[in-house]
Amino acid sequence: MTVDLDTWRALSAQQQPEWPDPVAVTAVREALSVLPPLVFAAECDALKGRLAAAARGEAFVLQGGDCAETFAGSTADNIRGKLKTLLQMAVVLTYGASVPVVKVGRLAGQFAKPRSAGMETRDGVTLPSYRGDAVNDLAFTPESRIPDPQRLLRMYHTSAATLNLIRAFTQGGFADLRQVHEWNRGFLAANGTTARYEAMANDIDRAIRFLSAVGADSESLHRVDFYTGHEALLLEYERALTRIDSRTGTPYDVSAHFVWIGERTRQLDGAHVEFASRVRNPLGVKLGPSTSVADAVALADKLDPEREPGRLTFITRFGAGRIRDGLPAIVEGVRDAGLLPVWVCDPMHGNTIDAGGYKTRRFEDVMDEVTGFFEVHEALGTVPGGVHVELTGDDVTECIGGSSGVTEPDLKLRYETACDPRLNHQQSLELAFLVAEMLQRRRSHV
Ligand code: TRP
Ligand code: MN
Repeated sequence: MTVDLDTWRALSAQQQPEWPDPVAVTAVREALSVLPPLVFAAECDALKGRLAAAARGEAFVLQGGDCAETFAGSTADNIRGKLKTLLQMAVVLTYGASVPVVKVGRLAGQFAKPRSAGMETRDGVTLPSYRGDAVNDLAFTPESRIPDPQRLLRMYHTSAATLNLIRAFTQGGFADLRQVHEWNRGFLAANGTTARYEAMANDIDRAIRFLSAVGADSESLHRVDFYTGHEALLLEYERALTRIDSRTGTPYDVSAHFVWIGERTRQLDGAHVEFASRVRNPLGVKLGPSTSVADAVALADKLDPEREPGRLTFITRFGAGRIRDGLPAIVEGVRDAGLLPVWVCDPMHGNTIDAGGYKTRRFEDVMDEVTGFFEVHEALGTVPGGVHVELTGDDVTECIGGSSGVTEPDLKLRYETACDPRLNHQQSLELAFLVAEMLQRRRSHV
């Protein structure tokens, strides 16, 4: 049986660029469709298995990276910095959760952005909005903002280079558990952070020394499985990178292991949901406060009719002020419909505020949303399966608060994001310690 991968073309697709030259788009599509896959279908299946474990509470998902990757920002230093931050968080979370952490980078493909307005006006000049490096350029000039399909090819090649480095780092010794833990110790020493985090780091230290003492020196301590994911926004790109897996004869979107559908493109009768329903990757859907139980269940029926373990992840992004009131009904309704998705908390996108012209987020709001997420699942007896955060390995000043002490007047010092404000290295680690404490508390009463 062959699956028709082009049924989405007949449906309405939100957030697609208006490419000026359709002939050029066709040429790029054809070029992309013969390039090698970035990931293998069997890896996507392995991730699906890990996500199935997370849905049952036998693993915990850490997904993180830039809001928007850029071509210029895809340097060895930046990639290493993000990976290092994610690994450092993963050690702490693994200790807190006492189950494996499933590591999914928001990396090697996160180059396209949905926008609330198609046009942007500055000082009386109106130009098309920036839609990510996959589409146009951030610079506010008429030439920069014209969508250029050649950028899709550059997205592919930049993703390939990024993934190549990640594969080398995660398999070649960089991700060694002891080394990552030493980074955490160095971090705590340098930042004079609270005794609470220090105590947990000491516990981890003791656990690692115990492992050495008993000779538990398995290969798995020196390497990690690391997966990639991005928003499947640009359907021409995702379609061109979809291949039939020779093992199973079924289609996989080989641009990443995991792809998700954004809050703005999750229309049940829309092109994104239709496209995603046809590929076999594990899928995410972002759910905001406007979601009804019926929406969530209908999305699951369409995207996961077989109720395949690990297939579907619901990434909730309610905002700190709404999660405690809004999330319970959705989680309950989905559970009562017999579904077992992975519930992941995105505590970033519902907490964006404006401070003196800068888009920012308060660390305290981010943590409050994660706390609310754990409370809701605790009350319902369901599983808080993971977190999804926007972060960077650098000491940027884009989010305020936390022990980093970034304040509103500091925002201008190092505000570098191409899109939304990211947690910096310190804020990311602090989040990991706090989430690890929540996981530890949860374990002590389940
Ligand atoms: N391979 C194991 C895992 O991924 C242990 C491990 C090795 C690890 N290096 C790590 C865990 C770095 C977290 C971070 O869980
Ligand atoms: Mn974002």
